[in-house]
Amino acid sequence: MSPEYYRSAVRSSVARQAVRKLGRLRRSGDGRLGSLGHDFDRGHREYVKKLPEGGRLWLRTKPFSAPPNFELAACLRTFAHVVDHLGLGLRAQVLDVGCGPGWMSEYLARCGYWVTGIDISEDMVEIARLRVSRIPEQVGDGIEPLAEFDAMPVREMPWIDRFDAAVLYDTMHHFDDELETLRVILRSLVPGGTIYIREGARPAEGSEGEQALIEEMRVHRTLESPFDPRYLLKVVRKAGFEDVHRLVEVDELVPVDDLRQPFNAFTRFFRYRGGRGDINTVVARKPIGLEIPTEAANFTGRIESLGLWDDSSEPGVHLMWVEVTNEGRAFWPSAKGFPFPSGVVTIAPYTLDEAGERAELGRSTLPHGVSPGTSARVLVRVPSEATRNEVRIDLVREGLAWFSELGGQPLVVSPKG
Ligand SMILES: C[S@@+](CC[C@H](N)C(=O)[O-])C[C@H]1O[C@@H](n2cnc3c(N)ncnc32)[C@H](O)[C@@H]1O
Repeated sequence: MSPEYYRSAVRSSVARQAVRKLGRLRRSGDGRLGSLGHDFDRGHREYVKKLPEGGRLWLRTKPFSAPPNFELAACLRTFAHVVDHLGLGLRAQVLDVGCGPGWMSEYLARCGYWVTGIDISEDMVEIARLRVSRIPEQVGDGIEPLAEFDAMPVREMPWIDRFDAAVLYDTMHHFDDELETLRVILRSLVPGGTIYIREGARPAEGSEGEQALIEEMRVHRTLESPFDPRYLLKVVRKAGFEDVHRLVEVDELVPVDDLRQPFNAFTRFFRYRGGRGDINTVVARKPIGLEIPTEAANFTGRIESLGLWDDSSEPGVHLMWVEVTNEGRAFWPSAKGFPFPSGVVTIAPYTLDEAGERAELGRSTLPHGVSPGTSARVLVRVPSEATRNEVRIDLVREGLAWFSELGGQPLVVSPKG
């Protein structure tokens, strides 16, 4: 979407003609502008390639440009609201849905959150990765910026009960099946997790704003279908969220001696309350108790040995490569460094003492997060003397459960003769 998007007064005759044909627009719901019936997923995938160099530069520098455009204030204000409103702790898991060029992901990573950005466009994801790789140093004492990006359509997100918050900045209007999309996002959040949506509101029928959207769809073949504010609230509730609120932004500088200003703010506030206004900021929570109840099905994995103990590389230590495969439905987050955040998955070798209790031999970390159906190779290290006994290797959800407690089987490695 171009920076001028919601402000431009497009007077193109093509758009006018398209408005006349509004009856032929495909409706995706009463509360949204219809599409032109085109392949908009393809439009989004090809969007960056079709941009002139100036447009691509904007994606790399967003929200800054020289001179600045109106998006600078919109982005920076929204970012401040997101951080304040969510009030997340260090390494909180944040999902940036439709991350585009990743400016929001970058800023969230600079706050020490653990960010996952997804976007349907490979090109956007590439720009987002580049931005984060260019953060020059640690973002806090001993804290590296942490942001991962995946090119995928929103409805194909695999995660379950993972994110503390999902942020959607200027992106919901591109998603055609809003109910299903919101359900996928709901599933990806931890119970009690927050969704934060910031969108332009649907312009009035026949307005110049609507013409601009139709023109945008015609030119870029993308889906530009913003929401009527009341419809957005309705669909967020219907998807299963609770504590659903529409918020109004009131931050601006006003002269203290201009007594009309409080009334202007008041009027704007009541316009928003009445379901009007040009911005939709909606926040909501995933209800507690909505977590998928079958932990065992979500967290199951296979551990396979990739060889025998290596007893010659390091004095006093035996090493073994294993491959772990995520056979469940939940994402396995990884983490470096101790203490591990709750919920991170690690590999835990142990022996059994005479009382049958676990004698733990330390932990190995996953080299990266592991999605359902994928694998990672991990080097397990144990003290040499431990391998005189049978060594068991299990997976652990730190602070929550061992996989064997959820019905899984540890890898059993025979004593070294
Ligand atoms: C207007 S841009 C905003 C991007 C970003 N949030 C920002 O503030 O710069 C919307 C993004 O949504 C992405 N998008 C469109 N349809 C999508 C889908 N079905 N799944 C995931 N991303 C999608 C587009 O590729 C685009 O990068």
